[in-house]
Amino acid sequence: MNGTPCIAAIVIAGSMRPHPGRALRRPYEHRCPPDLDFRLRLGHGPHMANNESIDGTTLQKQAAALAPDEIPAIASLRRIAESNPDRPFVVAQLGQSLDGRIATPGGESRYINAAAGLDHLHRLRACVDAVVVGAGTIEADDPELTVRRCAGRNPARIVVDPRSRLDWGGRWLARDGARRVLVTSNARVAPPGVETVALPADSGAIAPHEIILALHRLGFARILVEGGARTVSSFIDAGAIDRLHLIVACMIIGSGRTGLDLRPLLRLGDALRPPTEVCRLGERDVLFDCDLRAAAERE
Ligand SMILES: NC(=O)c1ccc[n+]([C@@H]2O[C@H](COP(=O)([O-])OP(=O)(O)OC[C@H]3O[C@@H](n4cnc5c(N)ncnc54)[C@H](OP(=O)(O)O)[C@@H]3O)[C@@H](O)[C@H]2O)c1
Repeated sequence: MNGTPCIAAIVIAGSMRPHPGRALRRPYEHRCPPDLDFRLRLGHGPHMANNESIDGTTLQKQAAALAPDEIPAIASLRRIAESNPDRPFVVAQLGQSLDGRIATPGGESRYINAAAGLDHLHRLRACVDAVVVGAGTIEADDPELTVRRCAGRNPARIVVDPRSRLDWGGRWLARDGARRVLVTSNARVAPPGVETVALPADSGAIAPHEIILALHRLGFARILVEGGARTVSSFIDAGAIDRLHLIVACMIIGSGRTGLDLRPLLRLGDALRPPTEVCRLGERDVLFDCDLRAAAERE
């Protein structure tokens, strides 16, 4: 292969110090030209600030911070960032415990994932044009939905609130230059600067495919459905998700809100069995990158 040696290759070549405590393994002894640029564009590692220029010192710091195990996670992000913008590419994520919980019975969910899992979520945001959440997440968490743990542009923030249960006070409405879009099923008038998309609802549910098509018409090709459980589940049930990033934390909560809750199956044989890439994110989290599109096409 031609091109710039990836950071792992540089590390293995002996010119830089490997990540402490990690064995170097053969699979990383290859040249991977796009990965280096891609990691640097995303500001991989704790040393990179927005718009910081790349020089030798920065590269040295990046390489010292890199865990070889994280390389597959970078590949999973490239797949999204380099998808064909002519059609929507939709990735969903959920951070959950080993027992499939996303919050305690009282709704506490910050933070199930450790630092590396949270870094991955912020890199996901940096890769997409728009991030979608349901009204329940805005109500429970009042999230900012911005890119803060890596370099990158804030995606547009899309909130699905068909019954207008939210007021106009959430942090997703911050005027930071990112587009803000309310998806509703009525004629609600939004504050200046907030776009609205009105779509018909059937028994309260807006078809996820209609939401994705409407967002694509607004210019958003790479879309992250970030939560919560009901929103991600309804998009998967509708076959509207290309990839699912399940970030599993080595933690057992034992009670509380479950993550995915899909339409009941009649037979185990009907279960989704997506081709899945697995990689560690730091010491505490594991990423399962599931190809739901391939699973659907196999049926
Ligand atoms: N661990 C994680 O990765 C993660 C990420 C995000 C959130 N969370 C947690 O998840 C919990 C919130 O999740 P949740 O399941 O209660 O709520 P949610 O998925 O955030 O929001 C669900 C609501 O959004 C609206 N909605 C979403 N999709 C819709 C569609 N296609 N058509 C019509 N309406 C749609 C509906 O509002 P109406 O009910 O008004 O009709 C629906 O009830 C919180 O505890 C939060 O902390 C965890």
